[in-house]
Amino acid sequence: MAAFTPWPSTWVPADGDRSAQIGGFDTRSLAAEFGTPVFALDLADLRGRMDAWAAAANEHFAPERGLAGADVFYASKAFTCISMIRLVVERGLCADVASGGELAVALAGGMDPARIGVHGNNKSAEEIAAALDAGVGRIVIDSLGELDLISAAAGERGVTAPIFIRVTTGVHAGANEYIATAHEDQKFGLSLTDGSALAAARRAVELPNLELAGLHQHIGSQISDLEGHAVSTRSLLSLRAEIARETGVLVPDVDLGGGYGITYVDEPTLSPDEVCARMAGVVRAACEVLEVAPPRISFEPGRSIVGPAMVTLYSVGAIKRVTIDDGERSYVAIDGSMGDTVLRPMLYGSVYTADVASREISGPTVRSRIVGKHCESGDIMIRDIDLPEGLERGDLLAIPATGAYGRSMASNYNLLARSPVVAVENGEATLWLRRDTVSDFFAVDPAY
Ligand code: LLP
Repeated sequence: MAAFTPWPSTWVPADGDRSAQIGGFDTRSLAAEFGTPVFALDLADLRGRMDAWAAAANEHFAPERGLAGADVFYASKAFTCISMIRLVVERGLCADVASGGELAVALAGGMDPARIGVHGNNKSAEEIAAALDAGVGRIVIDSLGELDLISAAAGERGVTAPIFIRVTTGVHAGANEYIATAHEDQKFGLSLTDGSALAAARRAVELPNLELAGLHQHIGSQISDLEGHAVSTRSLLSLRAEIARETGVLVPDVDLGGGYGITYVDEPTLSPDEVCARMAGVVRAACEVLEVAPPRISFEPGRSIVGPAMVTLYSVGAIKRVTIDDGERSYVAIDGSMGDTVLRPMLYGSVYTADVASREISGPTVRSRIVGKHCESGDIMIRDIDLPEGLERGDLLAIPATGAYGRSMASNYNLLARSPVVAVENGEATLWLRRDTVSDFFAVDPAY
């Protein structure tokens, strides 16, 4: 068994005729009750990931260790719904939202507005108004002009808006590599090197109705090496000291962003404990050198909280064999679509693995390609995988690590339904999001 597995903690593979289980629930029964595709959410696994983040942040940034504490903001873009937010609240995490829609769900889920961070590189006037009216704890600005908009909107309401500046430190990380050049050339953040981050800080201090409360970075996704994070964090902390010298404001908070990688197949990943231990060391050392008090730190993990907690169950449909240069390939069509996770391999070339969930099928395997049901030849979920020769129409295939950016990026292309999310624990299943229906499609069509 691989040291790093993509399967959630309660997953039990199929054994003989018994189907695989998740959360003490038989996957065949789950598919029968909720249909396929279905996102099966391992609630115990999810709760464990939230708790691991909270515990690691509390422990490594504790005042006894010379630091000022840390908060974990769940990046709700990875997956959100009211039940998800309720769990985030219950486990003591905060939430990061990137649109008015995500803000509305966070509020509907009972998140204390003071524990919500609002992002967006192009926030609308309505989104700014909603954030201010709710009284969110932080609004992360992405451009200079936004400061004037927020200052004016806060003035109209007679409130002070807590502002974080998103800083582009020149470091971009992701999928193992980090490169300390050229990543200024993207839409997010205010540049450290061309002085616009410092200019934004000056402006935030000058403008009425704004409180410069923090600095923010987010350097990439699916990161499995913290070197880029360390380099970027040191730059951000130096900027914080420089802003203090220039404006007299030593911002109390620094948000290090998200992006911590997960195992999709067998890739090694870092635990929250490893991330927090390393970053606490970086923050402590940098603040000592800079001779400034350490800030309160935030992390914004999305994928590493919810990604590994879901498995998508698909039904196998058409199977066809084709002859290729060096043998044969089996095309296995699942009932999957851009309504679940099929979009990620198409967009990013993401690689997933799969296992037969309905029963254990022994015997020889065949080189296979798992495809979805859209009218697109690029609709490929897994390009190359060995599947049992005995796989048949009606069998269930399980694809792990689909919790992040699966349901949340689902579309209704071809007017296919987006898949439901069902939370399972101790043999009980609770519907968190239902499948779309044809009535939902007509509901937005006034001509109906
Ligand atoms: N904070 C900020 C400001 C972000 O922009 C993001 C992700 C996160 C936190 C959470 O990152 P995570 O820990 O989940 O990697 N659709 C892509 C991912 C886009 C991520 C965008 N920002 C995917 O499917 O991989």
